[in-house]
Amino acid sequence: MLTSSSGIPIGDLVSSMTVGPRGPIVFQDVVLLEEMAHFVRERIPERVVHARGAGAFGYFEVTHDITNYCKASVFEHIGKKTPIAVRFSTTSGESGTSDFAREPRGFAVKFYTEQGNWDLAGNNSPVFFLRDPMLFSSLSRAQKRNPQTHLKDPNALWDFFSLRPETLHEVTMIFTDRGTPDGFRFMHGFGIHAFKLLNAHGGAVYCKFVYNTNQGIKNLTSEQATLLSGTNPDYAIKDLEDAINKGDFPSWNLYISGHDFRASQKHAF
Ligand code: HEM
Repeated sequence: MLTSSSGIPIGDLVSSMTVGPRGPIVFQDVVLLEEMAHFVRERIPERVVHARGAGAFGYFEVTHDITNYCKASVFEHIGKKTPIAVRFSTTSGESGTSDFAREPRGFAVKFYTEQGNWDLAGNNSPVFFLRDPMLFSSLSRAQKRNPQTHLKDPNALWDFFSLRPETLHEVTMIFTDRGTPDGFRFMHGFGIHAFKLLNAHGGAVYCKFVYNTNQGIKNLTSEQATLLSGTNPDYAIKDLEDAINKGDFPSWNLYISGHDFRASQKHAF
């Protein structure tokens, strides 16, 4: 039986309701309204940032005991394996743009743990442009297309960077060859934020999460990136796919670098 999306039987989906055979279409035609409502909403708009990327499934394996710092079951014992999903991305370009934008790469890992999914969103640089999230939308707008011209707007970008000197560290990094990594396999990942770990006795330490690539760091020069952007814009996505299809699975070592704040308090007092 043909029904509306809420399950109410309907006669057909090939003609609108009209006033007589040649009359106007009537506003009470809820089937037509539903069809239109569905049509304008059926495409999920792409994300405002990190729209372009590639991901893969894999696993995380504990190699060192950190239970004195963290009680999360994912770190329970050496040898424990947890399934993960990883997604690498560029930041500001639309989904159909190239893999070579000079900007940080996203490095997001989802751990499917027994205690729930744990998302560790990261980037390929150890610092971020900003500290206060209130400024993030302005940073993002400055990187995106000017709505008046539909063009990228270098004036907006450099205006933002020059007015927010705290962006300098990350800006300096992306304007080296680190701004154009050679695909996604040859870069480190960083959680960037300081996280607080709790052990089973309630003891806390601050920590940073860092993934070091086992493939080694490889970056492209500006000339290589410019050329590839025109000849092979999907280079990074393809490189990941090719490596996985060949069985050459990329891997990273996850490290924590910590700070015991009780010790520092003792020191301070
Ligand atoms: C400073 C404030 C920040 C704000 C307001 C912000 C906002 C956002 C938003 C709105 C998205 C898109 C989410 C979606 O549509 O599903 C996103 C994605 C993402 N962000 Fe941020 N972000 C911030 C900082 C950061 C930092 C510091 C990092 C790195 C640690 C980061 C890494 C990522 C990654 C990797 C993604 C894509 C995740 C994926 O691949 O699924 N962001 N962010």
